[in-house]
Amino acid sequence: MPNILADKKIVLGVTGSIACYKAVDLASKLKQAGALVEVILTESAQQFLSPLSFNSITHQPVVTSLFDTNSEAGINHVALARRADIVVVAPATANTIAKIANGQADDALGTTVLATEAPIMVCPAMDGNMYESPATQANIATLKERGIHLAGPEVGHLASGQTGIGRLIEPQQIASHIRLILGRNGDLAGKKIVVSAGGTRESLDPVREITNRSSGKMGYAIAEAALDRGASVVLVSTPTNLSSPVGATVVLVKDAADMYQAIITESKDADGLVMAAAVADWQPVASSGQKAKKSNKKTWAIELTQTPDIIASVSTKGLIKVGFAAETESVLQNAEAKIKSKNLDIVVANDVSSEQIGFGSDNNEVTIIDRLGRVEETGLLSKYDIAWQILDRTLEFMKAT
Ligand SMILES: Cc1cc2nc3c(=O)[nH]c(=O)nc-3n(C[C@H](O)[C@H](O)[C@H](O)COP(=O)(O)O)c2cc1C
Repeated sequence: MPNILADKKIVLGVTGSIACYKAVDLASKLKQAGALVEVILTESAQQFLSPLSFNSITHQPVVTSLFDTNSEAGINHVALARRADIVVVAPATANTIAKIANGQADDALGTTVLATEAPIMVCPAMDGNMYESPATQANIATLKERGIHLAGPEVGHLASGQTGIGRLIEPQQIASHIRLILGRNGDLAGKKIVVSAGGTRESLDPVREITNRSSGKMGYAIAEAALDRGASVVLVSTPTNLSSPVGATVVLVKDAADMYQAIITESKDADGLVMAAAVADWQPVASSGQKAKKSNKKTWAIELTQTPDIIASVSTKGLIKVGFAAETESVLQNAEAKIKSKNLDIVVANDVSSEQIGFGSDNNEVTIIDRLGRVEETGLLSKYDIAWQILDRTLEFMKAT
């Protein structure tokens, strides 16, 4: 199964911040995703956490000193720097950020950061005043100028008890940033992919709407897989419970008309369009500005009109168009008909009548049909794995265009 983190050598530098505990979770997430995680603890970090915490998660020795002759770092002080695919400093204290900005190499982390040719990512964590101080800001600017990636901090509750900027971003977010950096030279690098996700909501009045059961998970998985492969991704989505994929440009829309506008605009310079959203086929002819009152009428007839067919309307030259056919019957026949009527390259057909797959589920089972008549059944897979297969086929058509 595709996995951008598998076998990647990640050096994780952990410094003396109260947010250290989150680095344990990060190391665990990276290890579970198949990465080889080698941890360097600064002396201050060891006041907060023991090397054993990381050692038992990563199953690798933890570097705690530059001068430990029992450690590989003590014998070859740049060994980790040389083999790293990425060096991540999380959490990064104000002190370590200052040291990196000045090129100091008085400990194992400083030496590694200075010696590596791999991409470096720094995730600051500190008190708001420390973060906003001119010295820290100047140091961060220096890091950015030198091509070091900064991720965070975010605004939130700080150890001081105050709320402000300086909070370490969550481990899941850090992992997403790592994936983005490691994937940037992937096979979709230089391609713009527009993905739609979620179910549209058509207003009847200010409090009532017609919507559908789409969770947005399939579209978000496609956006994530495309980012992992280096694409620049625009995700046109209705509001969902899902976190925005790190690195995607998210355009939030509400109804089919909004989605139409956003997709037409974003597709003008795109290489691929994947319409995974469940767009309403029908919208109310009229939407009241005021809440419709309950009256003595026993029934309420709502007149509906067809919404514009978005994917059929997009005609950017060279754009590879991927449609979804969520059906409950005659799945294949309907999908093939869609390819012709909407001028699509690929249709992903799924039977949404099953609770095991389709709406809301993390898994899906689809048939990928293309304009050359090829039919491929994926079997039951995670939505991310299915996304990868859809993008494989999309890339094939892009190369042939
Ligand atoms: C309880 C406690 C919490 C701390 N939290 C932070 C922090 O979140 N961010 C930070 O920049 N410094 C923090 N410090 C200060 C650093 O530990 C200190 O600057 C240290 O020299 C950093 O060393 P290092 O960068 O080599 O790990 C904290 C200190 C203490 C005692």
